[in-house]
Amino acid sequence: MAQSTRARILIVDDERSIRELLEIFLKKEGFAVVAAATGADGLALAKATEFDLIISDIKMPDISGIDLLRDVRAANFTGQFILLTAFATAETAIQALKMGAFDYILKTENFMEELKLVVYGALEDRRLREENRYLRREFRKQHGMGNLIGKSRSMQELFKMIELVSSTTSTVLITGESGTGKELVAKAIHLNSPRADESFVSVNCGAFTETLLESELFGYVKGSFTGAASNKKGLFEVADKGTIFLDEIGDTGMAMQVKLLRVLQERTIRRVGGSEEIPIDVRIIAATNRELPAMVAENEFREDLFYRISVFPIELPPLRHRPDDIPLLANFFLSRLNATMGRRIDRLSDDALKKLEGYEWPGNVRELENAMERAFILETGDELSARHLPESVSSGNRNRAVADLPPEGFDLEAYVEGVQKSYLQEALRRTNGVQVKAAELLGMSYRSFRHYMQKYDVS
Ligand SMILES: Nc1ncnc2c1ncn2[C@@H]1O[C@H](COP(=O)(O)OP(=O)(O)OP(=O)(O)O)[C@@H](O)[C@H]1O
Ligand SMILES: [Mg+2]
Repeated sequence: MAQSTRARILIVDDERSIRELLEIFLKKEGFAVVAAATGADGLALAKATEFDLIISDIKMPDISGIDLLRDVRAANFTGQFILLTAFATAETAIQALKMGAFDYILKTENFMEELKLVVYGALEDRRLREENRYLRREFRKQHGMGNLIGKSRSMQELFKMIELVSSTTSTVLITGESGTGKELVAKAIHLNSPRADESFVSVNCGAFTETLLESELFGYVKGSFTGAASNKKGLFEVADKGTIFLDEIGDTGMAMQVKLLRVLQERTIRRVGGSEEIPIDVRIIAATNRELPAMVAENEFREDLFYRISVFPIELPPLRHRPDDIPLLANFFLSRLNATMGRRIDRLSDDALKKLEGYEWPGNVRELENAMERAFILETGDELSARHLPESVSSGNRNRAVADLPPEGFDLEAYVEGVQKSYLQEALRRTNGVQVKAAELLGMSYRSFRHYMQKYDVS
């Protein structure tokens, strides 16, 4: 093989002469070869090391080669498998091929030539398949996260998390302020998952009344209510084998929360008015911009449902916490506008960039995207200037406190203390009074947090 790594081959045969013959022959061909004398040893080796190919005798005293094939596949062996046999019946041969063996070889007098051909064929087949899988994965990676960009450390970490969680079926809860990209992340997870070819169904739970949401999600049977003229599949069924995105899950009422909990526990649904339990195979991703733990504390969100959906929580940072991403995003939106608006604006002016970087972006990436679009439409020159940015952006509210210094002056210390006190209170509110967490939220040690709590008489 031309690759820098030699293919690794495992030989399993109870007959010593055959084992040694194969070992010497394949080593001469340049392969890395390991041999086992029993099926059990072979299985143990296959579990411990990765092989590209296993060549096994069919008839062995402990387990047969067919059993070994089944066992290694069960242990996630993805390489090739070739069976050797002294005499083949059509049945064993067919059985072997059905179970995913690449081929079988009869131990005739001079079978080494045939073996050589089959071994090279099997390894080439594997190489092509791996290459295909790699290309498919790369393609998905580019397209799956292609629209989700960010170079800040927090976004880079997010990309890693998306990759990790994509390969699982764990339920994911995405939280973050409005406009931080929660839906984009949900799509990226789906597109990077083995379910990418199946459907991605997005439901805005906050946009329906409770009864409407129920029939949307679970479907209904004919006659279950006025207007139910025929059976209808719900979105959980539509999303079968794929992913369902339950957006704004924090906006669901208590009755719906009970029903969602049931789906998560039982993995079955019942249509409205129906009695049949319909099994579903759906990956669930939920999102909200509300503070679910606080809602749990207020008995507005079921605690058991919260734990069920937050198996894998992903928190999207607000844009103001990752200012490195602002120029990148602004240029990304500019080039997208260039591609879709039928006009070209070559660059962002330095002044515009400075304004964009200086703004707090309470509406996060969505607000930035909208500001760019608006400025693009209004701009008549060949450079995107600051003058068409929204008033709030160009006035640069980040420095507003400084700019607002009244001519008659003011008490800076009292002002700073006031700000500190309200941040302390806000941090405690968000963490439900958990002081350690509130301190962390403000980047303070627990000790200094306690100090300020006493100073300002906050509890
Ligand atoms: N990292 C990013 N890269 C590129 N575009 C982004 C990014 N994050 C968000 N966007 C864009 O910003 C807009 C808002 O994103 P999205 O709808 O995913 O936000 P959201 O968190 O679901 O907001 P809401 O809570 O209001 O529903 C979309 O147009 C999206 O394409
Ligand atoms: Mg959204």
